[in-house]
Amino acid sequence: MDFITELSKIIAKAAELPAEEIAPAIETPADTKNGDFAFPCFRLAKTLRKAPPLIAQDIASKIEKPDFVTDIQVVNAYINFYVNKEDTVKSVVAGYIENGTEIFKSSLGEGKTVCIDYSSPNIAKPFHVGHLRSTVIGNALKNIYTALGYKVVGINHLGDWGTQFGKLIVAYKMWGDKETVERDDIKELSRIYVKFHEEAEKRPELNDEARSWLVKMQEGDKEALDLWKWFCDISMKEFNRIYDRLGITFDSYAGESFYNDKMQAAVDEIREKGLLTTSEGAQIVDLEKYNMPPCLILRSDGGTLYPTRDISAALYRKETYDFYKCLYITALDQNLHFAQWFKVLELMGYDWAADSLVHIPFGLVSLGDGKLSTRKGHVVLMEDILNQAVEKALTIIEEKNPDLENKEKVAEDVGIGAVIFDDMFNSRIKNIVFDLDRMLNFEGETGPYVQYTHARACNILKRNAFDTLAKDIDYSLISDEASVALCKAIGDMGDKIKEAADKNEPYIVSRQLIEVCKQFNRFYNGKNIMQCEENEKKARLALVCETKDCIKFGLGLLGINAPESM
Ligand code: ARG
Repeated sequence: MDFITELSKIIAKAAELPAEEIAPAIETPADTKNGDFAFPCFRLAKTLRKAPPLIAQDIASKIEKPDFVTDIQVVNAYINFYVNKEDTVKSVVAGYIENGTEIFKSSLGEGKTVCIDYSSPNIAKPFHVGHLRSTVIGNALKNIYTALGYKVVGINHLGDWGTQFGKLIVAYKMWGDKETVERDDIKELSRIYVKFHEEAEKRPELNDEARSWLVKMQEGDKEALDLWKWFCDISMKEFNRIYDRLGITFDSYAGESFYNDKMQAAVDEIREKGLLTTSEGAQIVDLEKYNMPPCLILRSDGGTLYPTRDISAALYRKETYDFYKCLYITALDQNLHFAQWFKVLELMGYDWAADSLVHIPFGLVSLGDGKLSTRKGHVVLMEDILNQAVEKALTIIEEKNPDLENKEKVAEDVGIGAVIFDDMFNSRIKNIVFDLDRMLNFEGETGPYVQYTHARACNILKRNAFDTLAKDIDYSLISDEASVALCKAIGDMGDKIKEAADKNEPYIVSRQLIEVCKQFNRFYNGKNIMQCEENEKKARLALVCETKDCIKFGLGLLGINAPESM
């Protein structure tokens, strides 16, 4: 039974309002003292021209209490509903037995496409911890939207075109050699790239040389393009190694270079619509009216820029995928960039731009000593971070469970899971300080804690098989407080997934997972299942089984594996 739907019908009848307006307003109070569900009456004050507490009393007095409701109380402007505990448990567990993890999904997004532009590292530059955030947040949102029935297109908008290639060609010709690049791949490319910047400070003419190589690339010069292609291949090898470890795939790898032959049309259109002006030789769209610096479209030498490629890409994606939303996951230091070119599209007359293009910014990552950067050479490679996390996980496993089978594989899942979970444990916009001790604390609010709880549930089920087809469960045997609280935590998961998509905040799922784990551990430690009589054991095992699947499903949304023992 869906309590919210049922309650909204009952309230609607008493208040003489449409049920569709009631349902979205029903809340689940954080403290169950205030009921299992609450309906706040503030919003009705305007239409009913009465004080909210009076409205609450008035509606409550007219409500016909259904069987599943044990009590209705009015507190100020709230009408609080207390649901029969057995009914609560039954709705959560019977739903699961019937439909498995489908209960966490929805068809909300049916018929709608969401494009997600994430990860998008730059070729020939290291994949650093900042890119990790975009990668894992984007991947989680992809899974979350998919669970809600949206069609999702995951796009890796690779930074595979632009000034850095001119610089890299100059650097390679001056200081590079084929063998070293082939051996050390991005490490070597970024070494010579950093050297270019150091040298160019002393010899600015190097920048002119770099620009002329970029022009050659744009003109289709074979030598330039062969080098460019080679740099791309070398970088992709490294990126793919990381994606494989994270278990991440993309539907499209159309990077910036993909738009080379599409930009002219976009630039022409901007010009035809009278938006282009010349400023210091460059072609720009003036955004002074909107309190923003101008959006650069063409450089004085005719070269295109980052925003030009983004505008072109958005038009292409709209045409190709007819998206309902297109999300861009990057660090918050790109806020202005997105605000500028979103505005340009709007000025071009594309009404969809304002609503459907969404920048999803996130905070910076530091290792405790300031912002990470590639240009100055403090390069922190993603791979090193993952390796460290996995090594530490292995040490912990060796200590806790030396006889575990597949130790290496479990350590990989736990180490990487710890990094991913920590990344999405807070609102995206918060900065993150990398701290392996915190991430890998099995008793903290961490990935390993959630994975460990899952393994614990698996372990119980290994010793006591539960037949998921069992229909004859006596729900009164799991109507104690701890079981009800666990059921509520699991029962809320579906709504939390919707909320996570609504706010584009995967942490809402991570936090709910922690809540499920806490309630599960309370449930499990409170009563020894092995000692229960058969019927109670069966009912409790049903809940263990559902918890296990709920955790696995939730971790899966975040892109984290759930080992069965650890
Ligand atoms: N390559 C860029 C960077 O590493 C991120 C690209 C984000 N996506 C986009 N469509 N602009 O900073």
